[in-house]
Amino acid sequence: VYIARLDTFLGHPTHAQLLVYVAAGFISLVVLANCCMLFSQFLMARYSFRLGGEISTRLYSHYIGRDVLFHNRTNSALLIQRVMRDATTLSSSMIAPALRLNARVFSIVLLSGAIVYVEPLVALTTLLLLGAIYLVIFRVVRGVVYRNGKKISLLGRNRNRLLNESFGGIRDVKLYSLERDYLAKYQVDTKQADRATADNLVLGEFPYFFVEIFVFTGMALLTLYLYTPEAGLGSALPVLTLYALAGVKLVPKVQQSYLAITRIRGAQAAFNFVYEGLRDSVGGESFLEEEAAPLVPRSSIELRDVSFAYDDAPAPVFSNFSVSFAVGRITAVTGSSGAGKSTLLDVLTGLIEPDAGHIVIDGKPLQHDDLPAWRATIGFVPQDVYLTDTTPAENIAFGVAPAEIDMARVQRAAQLAHIHDFIETLPDGYHSPIGERGAQFSGGQRQRIGLARAFYRQVSVLILDEATSALDNATQEEILQSLKQEQSGLTVIMVTHRQETMAIADHVVQLGAESSPECSHADA
Ligand SMILES: Nc1ncnc2c1ncn2[C@@H]1O[C@H](COP(=O)(O)OP(=O)(O)O)[C@@H](O)[C@H]1O
Ligand SMILES: [Mg+2]
Repeated sequence: VYIARLDTFLGHPTHAQLLVYVAAGFISLVVLANCCMLFSQFLMARYSFRLGGEISTRLYSHYIGRDVLFHNRTNSALLIQRVMRDATTLSSSMIAPALRLNARVFSIVLLSGAIVYVEPLVALTTLLLLGAIYLVIFRVVRGVVYRNGKKISLLGRNRNRLLNESFGGIRDVKLYSLERDYLAKYQVDTKQADRATADNLVLGEFPYFFVEIFVFTGMALLTLYLYTPEAGLGSALPVLTLYALAGVKLVPKVQQSYLAITRIRGAQAAFNFVYEGLRDSVGGESFLEEEAAPLVPRSSIELRDVSFAYDDAPAPVFSNFSVSFAVGRITAVTGSSGAGKSTLLDVLTGLIEPDAGHIVIDGKPLQHDDLPAWRATIGFVPQDVYLTDTTPAENIAFGVAPAEIDMARVQRAAQLAHIHDFIETLPDGYHSPIGERGAQFSGGQRQRIGLARAFYRQVSVLILDEATSALDNATQEEILQSLKQEQSGLTVIMVTHRQETMAIADHVVQLGAESSPECSHADA
């Protein structure tokens, strides 16, 4: 009935016309099928890499959200490796093969179904044998592949660290003549990693050779089995053709599935490393995103009953420690090295959360939600100023988009920090490239840029951690005096060792072995 209808629909075609229709139908089917395949490949590839990218971003967001204590004890090279490499390895060697595996398994099932339908007994034995070969080989190989994968990941991490260390500390490397040592270590690790990578590559191709032997032997045996003297090879030919076709289509697909599985196995080590990070990241994030209006103190900034111990330290740095800083004054904090000066400033800025006690502003304890406002109030200058590989202008207006930099304010800040004249001598002035970590700047110049960075923000509380240690007394005094004139209500809390700096200060806080700080008037 359908054929008759189709016949009518097509206008009663001749035999030749019918052939053309069939051919056209066949061709469009093939085109459609391949278009679908191509499309699904695009989708899968995009999906798997997007997933990898999302994992990488998620890890980055987790790590950058961790507090400074975490970053103090964690090697940054390790974090970079996890965020950049392990996450991408994950998408290219685990998710993509898994998706491809899905598609392959589908066509394997279809093809095998077709063969089993035509010749059940022979087909089933063949499929079982083929499956068995792959299974046995996989069982033997998978341990090796996993170990290699782990090795690749660990060695990659090591190489990353070596590179970071040697480039970061290039002066020490050269002064101690360690170039050869670093190179040798790197070479050893690289060789091992290359070998593991190559081995895993071949182990993925490995069974193909056995299977080829198996398939051809099978064909030969099958020919012998089906051959009868009366009919000659003629009767065996259709079955053999079917097998040859199935073999040509099926074996590569099985092989590709196997390859995908070994890849996944090899990437499992990287996956485990990333997984640790992801598992920790659940709910562990805390970064202050909101911009907040500054919380300007009116009378006093205090630390009240603060206790704090580093995780691995034998003794606490502070126990029940209290101190008060007068608003609008300069307070110097001194004490021997290791007395806890930097830790005090970390607690004061909220970078470290104390085990007990509070930051108290104008008599009101600061809550966690107040931290963005408190951070917007303070400018912090460390002893080692971190310069970004941009320009003096962008370094002074730190974190401000280049188009939004207020150049007049940058210049004013630079003048206050006594670095304006130096910047003017650079080839492009405020827009000269600085180079990585500002290596061509002297210690004093870097400190002045750091001060200018804090001045640009026009904060009301300025915290300096040995931030003027590389400046001479006269410059230091000039900077502080002009700052006081510029901003009358400015509060300065500065850690220093120098007697001369203490003389500029209105108050001195002495951190020492004794439990309570001594507070005295230096100018009294
Ligand atoms: N991240 C840390 N982990 C463990 N101990 C630390 C850490 N940072 C500092 N310490 C220890 O805490 C004490 C105070 O250090 P710090 O505040 O840097 O002293 P200061 O700045 O006065 O020289 C020192 O004994 C130091 O070894
Ligand atoms: Mg210190």
